[in-house]
Amino acid sequence: MQMPLLGLGTYNMFGEVVTNAVQTALETGYRLIDGAQMYHNEKEVGEGIRRSGIPRTEIFITTKIDNCNQGYDETLQSYEKSLKDLGLEKVDLLLIHWPIKGKRESTWKALEKLYANKQVGAIGTGNFLTPFMHELKNYSNYTPVVNQIEFSPFLNPNEDLDYCRQHQICLQAYTPLMRGQKHDNPSLVAIAKNHQRTPAQIILRWAVQQGISTIPKSGNSTRIKENFDIFNFELSPMDLQILNTLNENFRIVDNPMDMF
Ligand SMILES: NC(=O)c1ccc[n+]([C@@H]2O[C@H](COP(=O)([O-])OP(=O)(O)OC[C@H]3O[C@@H](n4cnc5c(N)ncnc54)[C@H](OP(=O)(O)O)[C@@H]3O)[C@@H](O)[C@H]2O)c1
Repeated sequence: MQMPLLGLGTYNMFGEVVTNAVQTALETGYRLIDGAQMYHNEKEVGEGIRRSGIPRTEIFITTKIDNCNQGYDETLQSYEKSLKDLGLEKVDLLLIHWPIKGKRESTWKALEKLYANKQVGAIGTGNFLTPFMHELKNYSNYTPVVNQIEFSPFLNPNEDLDYCRQHQICLQAYTPLMRGQKHDNPSLVAIAKNHQRTPAQIILRWAVQQGISTIPKSGNSTRIKENFDIFNFELSPMDLQILNTLNENFRIVDNPMDMF
């Protein structure tokens, strides 16, 4: 099974906006769509997939079990609802959205059952920083194939990346564009000018060039195309080195460790 490194995030888009974004992304060449029960837009995401006319077999779809649907039975039931809303027979990747205290093991066991029954292509985790991964080892039969965490040049936790690499888990960077913040950082701007690219393109290229999957969200067709146009240039080792010095633990979303 293969997953594209770059995908479209679908958080905080609704109605025709998300349907159009998904359709535009697929027409642009994206083949990975990152969804979630929590985004309350699975029907519209499914509609965008259908409108694109791209065969289902060519598209990699992710969804995530919402916090309120965690637990064994709830996970199985809510997955059925997601499939109905998306209009799909199965998704390619199913994630636990957040590591909820007291629900992590039962939710993971439900994902394992879905995987064993071939009802889902692959299973993984969201927001499982390294301590959660260590804990998961105690109750899991399968290793997650993807761990989706907040990750950017400004939030670049070595520990979590190293853990994923050592265990052959694909790290998937969410909120990679920091929702538009930090794009004026002088080092980032200088690298962007040098390559005649935008800061967003440099950030996304920085991720994929290191084998890190990433899922920028945009509801704007120009930016959807801009974010995909990163496969025809290369950052130098010096560029990567500079970008890797920008970490300042800058977090947009809540710190999952607060839930440990
Ligand atoms: N697992 C989790 O807990 C979790 C948490 C958060 C997010 N996610 C996933 O990760 C995806 C991405 O994260 P995100 O949506 O939080 O934030 P993001 O992708 O870092 O940033 C999205 C914001 O940046 C803007 N933007 C997009 N392209 C741009 C560009 N080229 N230049 C400047 N601004 C640009 C977008 O505006 P426009 O729409 O106007 O272009 C939007 O306001 C989500 O959509 C979701 O699928 C997962």
